[in-house]
Amino acid sequence: MSSLADQFHSAALDENLTAAFDARGLRAARVGDDDRDGAHRWQDAVARGFLDGEPTETQYTESFSRSGYRRKVGVYDAAGMQAEVPVATFASWATEVTLAVGSAVPMCAVSAVTVAPTHRRRGILSTLMRGELRTAAALGFPIAGLTVSESAIYGRFGFAPAVAATSWEISTRRAGWIGPEAPGRLDYITREQGRDAATALHERIRLTTPGEIAMPGGHWDRTFGTRPDAEKADKLRVVQYRSPDGDVEGVAVYSIAEDDDDWAASTATVSRVVAATDAAYAGLWRFLLSLDLVGIVRASELSVDEPLWWMIDNKRAARIQTKDHHYLRILDVPAALEARHYDVDDAIALEVSDPLGIADGTFVLSAGETPGVDVVDDPPLGIPLIRVGVAELSAMVLGGVSPVTLARAGRIDTDDPHRVARVFASTTTPQLSFWY
Ligand SMILES: CC(C)(COP(=O)(O)OP(=O)(O)OC[C@H]1O[C@@H](n2cnc3c(N)ncnc32)[C@H](O)[C@@H]1OP(=O)(O)O)[C@@H](O)C(=O)NCCC(=O)NCCS
Repeated sequence: MSSLADQFHSAALDENLTAAFDARGLRAARVGDDDRDGAHRWQDAVARGFLDGEPTETQYTESFSRSGYRRKVGVYDAAGMQAEVPVATFASWATEVTLAVGSAVPMCAVSAVTVAPTHRRRGILSTLMRGELRTAAALGFPIAGLTVSESAIYGRFGFAPAVAATSWEISTRRAGWIGPEAPGRLDYITREQGRDAATALHERIRLTTPGEIAMPGGHWDRTFGTRPDAEKADKLRVVQYRSPDGDVEGVAVYSIAEDDDDWAASTATVSRVVAATDAAYAGLWRFLLSLDLVGIVRASELSVDEPLWWMIDNKRAARIQTKDHHYLRILDVPAALEARHYDVDDAIALEVSDPLGIADGTFVLSAGETPGVDVVDDPPLGIPLIRVGVAELSAMVLGGVSPVTLARAGRIDTDDPHRVARVFASTTTPQLSFWY
């Protein structure tokens, strides 16, 4: 994994990518790892792209020291008035995504995608995305992933929402706790202690939760407000759950916004609950729903099948919104499908189409305890055939959507959607508990 990470980090840009930009009078280049000024100008472009203000000196310093793991690509326009500020940015790095309980594969994570408003809709993102995905695929990444600002951007590149997320607003007075009583104890801890506990707990949790990824460097400092450029860090409160044996099993971080008209109706916004056991989950959520002077609890990036829903008596005390969250894109069909788990012994043929020509082909999946995928010329007779785009296959890979649903939506074509659905079923609802 680390050698793949290193190889990808410093891989040369795809030749078609550089040629396409050259032909348009633009220049694509990686920002060198030691190039502090180049990284600052690249950060200027990212801030502009995401409608932020100019970065402060502290933000420049913090970003530079913390983002070394990112492969940063910029596109430069020599004819511009600020030729050293890229007109497009694109970051990626090697991480791992869990495909099934206990089974994670390398993933090319993509972030910081921006194109300057002066250069938008000329195919700059398309050229960057195609080129960087080709590089990732050539190095052997089975899959790429990202979280999105807008839904409509990435489908054309073969990405699909494999993990949906929910945002909750819970009226604590109405909710009524009917969940278990957790036997352990709760204590407030410092933000630094919370960060360290969450770092260790997430490593345990991510491997049992399809869709979670290894946390990128520095991300926990953002969540716990422990980096020097953190905003409103003083508002954060951190509480930890320990089992009766004294093991740290969960941590929650939240902030309070007071209601000036009603001191007893404050809002608690929960930025994260990291719970490695069911007891910690119950203990922390019960605590959060019973905070004095709090009338509303908000939380987001929860799963679409939260145990919490079954722990409150009045389901309508929770207003729940679902949205697309973790987008995945298979780059290597056999590697991705062989890393899944299958609860049935069966075989299906897949004709996969890919708008970028990276993962298309005809395959036979032998599902079962030791799955295998063969590349074939023609789909064999006698087993179900599924004609599927790479985006739809990526949506199905974690079990977050049933092939029956996709068939009914006209997104896949198969003669036996229920049999295909049994093959792709998963017993664990996928989740990604943060943005990257
Ligand atoms: C999203 C963004 C990077 C697109 O860059 P771009 O260079 O304009 O994209 P392209 O010209 O390569 O567009 C390719 C296609 O995607 C479409 N597209 C691009 N952005 C889109 C959007 N936000 N919504 C819908 N369609 C979009 C284009 O219309 C084009 O369609 P076509 O091939 O049918 O003509 C750019 O608009 C941007 O920086 N937005 C603000 C920051 C942001 O949201 N980044 C994404 C973070 S996840």
